[in-house]
Amino acid sequence: RLQRRRWRRAADNATAEDKAEAKAEAPAVKSYEGAQLWRVQVSEGDVANLQRVEDDGVAQIWYSNATVWDLMVNSENQPHVSKLLADNKLAYTVVIPDMQRAILDENPALSDDELELTGRKGHRMTWQHYHRAADMHGWLDYLAKTYPSVCETLVIGNSVEGRPLKVLHIKGKPGSPAMWVDGGIHAREWITSASVSYMINELVENRDAHSAWVDAVDLYVLPLANPDGYEFSHAGDRMWRKNRRRGGGCDGIDLNRNFGYKWGGKGAGPQPCQEIYRGSAPFSEPETSAIQSFVLARKASLKSYLSFHSYGQYVLYPWGYDRFVPPDHQDLQRVGTKMANAMRASSGLSYTVGSSAALLYPASGGSDDWAKGQAGLKYAFTVELRDTGRHGFVLPSSHILSSGKEVLAAVRTLAQEVAQL
Ligand code: ARG
Ligand code: ZN
Repeated sequence: RLQRRRWRRAADNATAEDKAEAKAEAPAVKSYEGAQLWRVQVSEGDVANLQRVEDDGVAQIWYSNATVWDLMVNSENQPHVSKLLADNKLAYTVVIPDMQRAILDENPALSDDELELTGRKGHRMTWQHYHRAADMHGWLDYLAKTYPSVCETLVIGNSVEGRPLKVLHIKGKPGSPAMWVDGGIHAREWITSASVSYMINELVENRDAHSAWVDAVDLYVLPLANPDGYEFSHAGDRMWRKNRRRGGGCDGIDLNRNFGYKWGGKGAGPQPCQEIYRGSAPFSEPETSAIQSFVLARKASLKSYLSFHSYGQYVLYPWGYDRFVPPDHQDLQRVGTKMANAMRASSGLSYTVGSSAALLYPASGGSDDWAKGQAGLKYAFTVELRDTGRHGFVLPSSHILSSGKEVLAAVRTLAQEVAQL
């Protein structure tokens, strides 16, 4: 009886997107059986060799800074990579011994209780589970329909495969300064879309608790900036990073190398098979060009641009393209530090603050550099959410709530600065 009601409810809530997804043929899900995550201790001079490892296709770079590389190595490549590291006198430890196991443990199915509850709410979103794009988009529509005086949805464009790029506008008092927030530019960074969604939910469903600052800003939030890649990371390949543009040899463009400021410089690749492929031209992709048009159309009121990525626990500001800082870097450092402090106050986890090329590595064509350098938004940040490498991208869904609170703390802190400009 219960079972039947649940099924009927789910069908009642089905959207056009659900039906399209249901009809689409399910691709085979890639297995990561035998794959491992290795943490390699390196020194400054080794960095030059890092990109080669990935370009040669023997390992996937998950994370890197001046002293550490996290490499995912498939079982067939482990003897080769292990020898390569030994030849270069680089020591490593195995952080995730069984990647397929980690993937299975990351996102357990909702319990019957949770399912039953979601059936009654008019949407299927939770903060216990990483949800599919249709659940997230359906829930944004539910919020807009239920709270029309508080928020509205805006479809700012469509992805390569035609999915909506759905922004939730959380309205401030008329004439308020505006802020941009996005998550999910990189497909596999699931925690970003989930945490940004938690923040949205808190600000809409529980607005009164936050009105002291939410009233003073117009928030434009895009939780799923790369919906095709996100869906593919659920149904095809958990480690997919790029969008889903089809190419001759390899698919996908790295959307965070496709923005049009210093496009094609350091840390961005010209080859379609690279994970950091910049695309054929700046803003060649509908996902980035939709953001470009939207931001430029509102550039008079937009004061900040905040992109959420994972992982590493950093608050990063421009420039990303090289080891320079903008003239007002002290303001960025000051506000970034406030954001990191607020995040730590909410969860106890610490975040490192600094300019992005200096702290991590140069990477051109990022959203933050474009927002600051071209669109002229004063406060441009990239926040790298949890963790620092224990789970990496395969962060268990039990982290969504506390990571979501960190996101809320970061956005609140930035809003308070923006309202004072
Ligand atoms: N992990 C992010 C990436 O590689 C960092 C981006 C920082 N911003 C930048 N403009 N490089 O895309
Ligand atoms: Zn990222």
